[in-house]
Parts: sequence; C-alpha cells; structure tokens
Amino acid sequence: MGRWPVPATGSVAVSDSDPPDEPPGFTAEPAVKPVAKEFTVSPPEASLRPLMNSFYEGKKVAVTGGLGLIGSFLCEELVARGAQVILIDDESKGSWKYIGGLKGQVEYRQADIADPKAAVDSVAGAEYVFHLASRAYGVGFSQKNNFEMFRFNDLVNTNALDAIAANKPQQALVVSSSCVYTDEGPTPMSDCQPISGEPERVNWGYGWAKRILEQKALIYQKETGIPISVVRPFNIYGEHYNWVGDSSQAIPMLTKRLLDGENPMVIWGTGNQRRNYIHGLDCARIMLQIVENGYFERPVNLGREETVSVKELVQRLAELAGIKTELVCDRTKPEGRFIKSADSKLLMAALGDNFDWKISLGEGLKRMIDWYRQTFSDKS
Ligand SMILES: NC(=O)c1ccc[n+]([C@@H]2O[C@H](COP(=O)([O-])OP(=O)(O)OC[C@H]3O[C@@H](n4cnc5c(N)ncnc54)[C@H](O)[C@@H]3O)[C@@H](O)[C@H]2O)c1
Repeated sequence: MGRWPVPATGSVAVSDSDPPDEPPGFTAEPAVKPVAKEFTVSPPEASLRPLMNSFYEGKKVAVTGGLGLIGSFLCEELVARGAQVILIDDESKGSWKYIGGLKGQVEYRQADIADPKAAVDSVAGAEYVFHLASRAYGVGFSQKNNFEMFRFNDLVNTNALDAIAANKPQQALVVSSSCVYTDEGPTPMSDCQPISGEPERVNWGYGWAKRILEQKALIYQKETGIPISVVRPFNIYGEHYNWVGDSSQAIPMLTKRLLDGENPMVIWGTGNQRRNYIHGLDCARIMLQIVENGYFERPVNLGREETVSVKELVQRLAELAGIKTELVCDRTKPEGRFIKSADSKLLMAALGDNFDWKISLGEGLKRMIDWYRQTFSDKS
C-alpha cells in the first residue's frame, strides 16, 4: 500500500471513467437480456412499505467496495429495500466514518480481494454480487502510476470474477468506467460502438484494467452462464466521500476547498473541460434497476449527455454555498479529455419507464454542501 494515496484531508484533480473489437456476445443492437426471474407488478399493499422492494427483499446481496462512495449508497439502498447485505471492503479508501448508521444493518466481511482466497470467501452465499472495489484516484495520481493502477485493478477484478464464478450467484454486476473511452472519440461517447484506440491518456493504466474487466466479464458470462452486467459510470459524486488529498475527485474536492475558505480557488487545466456528473445515489439506484430488470449483454454507459465546465461547476457551487470566490486556472496541470458526455440511449431503452435521474446537478451540489457543513460544522 506504501505509495497509494490514503484517505486524508487536502488542489483540484478531476477524476472520472468498449470492448475491444468484437467481443463475444457483441451485437449491433442494444440488448438487455431478461433473466429467469419473476418481474411482478407490486401488490397494492406494497405501497404501505415504500422503502421495501419486492425484488431485493430477503435476498443475500454482496457488495465489494461497499464502504466507498458508490458502494455506500448501494448498501444503504439495499438495506432500505430489505436485502441481506454482505458489505465487503478492505478499508484502504472507504471507511465507516460517515456511514456509521449502516453498521449492524449489514454483514461486514472485511477482506482484501487482492487475495484470491479472501475474494472467493468474501462473496460466499451471495445470490447477487455487485463488484465495485477498485483503487481510483484523481488524474494527478493516476497518470503518474499507470502500471500500478493497471496491475492492482486488474488483479482485484480478476479475483472478483473468479469469486463470482466459484460462488455462482444468480446475477452479478461489475463496474467499469468511462475511462475506457479514447480521448479522440466522438461526443457523446457511445456504448453501442466497439472502441478502437487507447483509453483516455490521463487514466491509461486504470482504463486498460477496466477494458480488460469488461472483456473478461463477457467471456465469463458466456462460459459460466452467470448473467454479468457491466456498467460504465461517468463522474460520480456525493456525500460520504473519503477525501484522499490531492488525489480526490472533482466535486467533493471542490466543495471541501470552497467551504474551507480557499480564495482564490485554483482549478486544474483551463477550467473549460466539460463533464457530466451523476449523484452516487442515482448511480446506485440505476445499478439496482439494471439487475432487477435483467442484464446487459455488453457494457452500458451510466452517465448523462448534458455537461458542465469545471469553471461553471465551481461558480454554481459558490452560488449555492453563498460564497464569493475568485477562480484561477493552473494550466500546467492535467485536465483529461475536453468533453466527457455520455450517450445514454442504451440505458434509457433498456430501463424504459423505470429510467430516471432523480437528483439534478443543482440538488446534488446542495446536498454535498449541506452534508459538508453538517459533518464538519466547525468549517461552516
Ligand atoms: N466515482 C466515480 O466517479 C467513478 C466513475 C467511474 C467508475 N467508477 C468505478 O465505480 C466503482 C466504485 O467507485 P467509488 O467512487 O465508489 O470508489 P471508492 O474509491 O469510493 O470506493 C472503492 C472501495 O473499494 C475498496 N477497496 C479497494 N481495494 C480493495 C480491495 N483490494 N479489497 C476490498 N476492498 C477494496 C476501498 O476501500 C473503497 O471503499 C469503482 O470500481 C470505480 O472504478 C467510479
């Protein structure tokens, strides 16, 4: 672990995330496959238990990386839906600090899934597996540590897939990233086309580990018969965030620096780079909906087409927080691809009426600000 960033408090890095050529199962048409399951309309009394969901209720669901940003929202949603949650994490980045309420509501299996046996044991008994564990940091760290980002994430992903194959859950979902896309590809980034070219430069090693995860998942799915969906989230943000100094992700880092009183705010690159941002809770809900509805035969984008520039983002944050701040752009720092916009037609077509983003960017930023102020009240 020596060189890895560790959760701590501390400039802005913007972090984010096709299968190579024709992968097995690649079809020209968007496809969500139904799995052998009952997809029933909830009985009327279900409306009396609005947090319960007939699909996950009573089911054993394992989440690797459950203490992380997305994993913590996923576990909370699963608990709210009555699932028996197995939360797996090694606490290398995630922590219980901001989600203590989950303790006692989940079965915690502390495990480092870089160890193959620990990985297999950790998901034992699960009917559904969501694999989220990874080491992902801001572009500053990522672009200087490509080999380690590749090696470690590939190892963890391989172990997670082995654990899925060994335990044979009814279904699994593994998390890739928009970093698999090239810097030069078309905008918006489409999941309906195979990708040709290298993954985005600032996340070269991490992007390759994710591409290989996608490919392995498709092959495993074919060979084991276990439906394994692959999602490619774009930029996810939200409360519960465990800061890792300079290697933290954009929105949590910008919120912290703004509310901690930094002025002028220094932002990396030109500040004109555009991203789409999804709140972690929306990301978690969509993942749950995918598994509930069936499974994707190939990777699917989990992101929006509309984008906002980093400068605009900081301005919105400052407005919402009621803080006046000056912006300075540090052009010596990396900024990644100019526009990262997601084509979400495949996702929308598959989820149909069940598809929606519940949390707008404005609302999500407000949640972030309120949470930061409540959690670190001495800084407000
Ligand atoms: N957050 C984003 O913007 C984003 C975008 C695209 C893809 N993703 C992917 O989504 C997934 C979840 O992302 P996140 O933002 O919640 O990440 P995160 O860093 O907040 O959480 C990852 C969790 O995995 C745990 N972990 C790391 N190595 C482990 C190991 N060897 N064994 C067990 N646990 C381990 C960490 O402690 C942490 O709690 C990751 O696979 C990430 O690559 C995230």
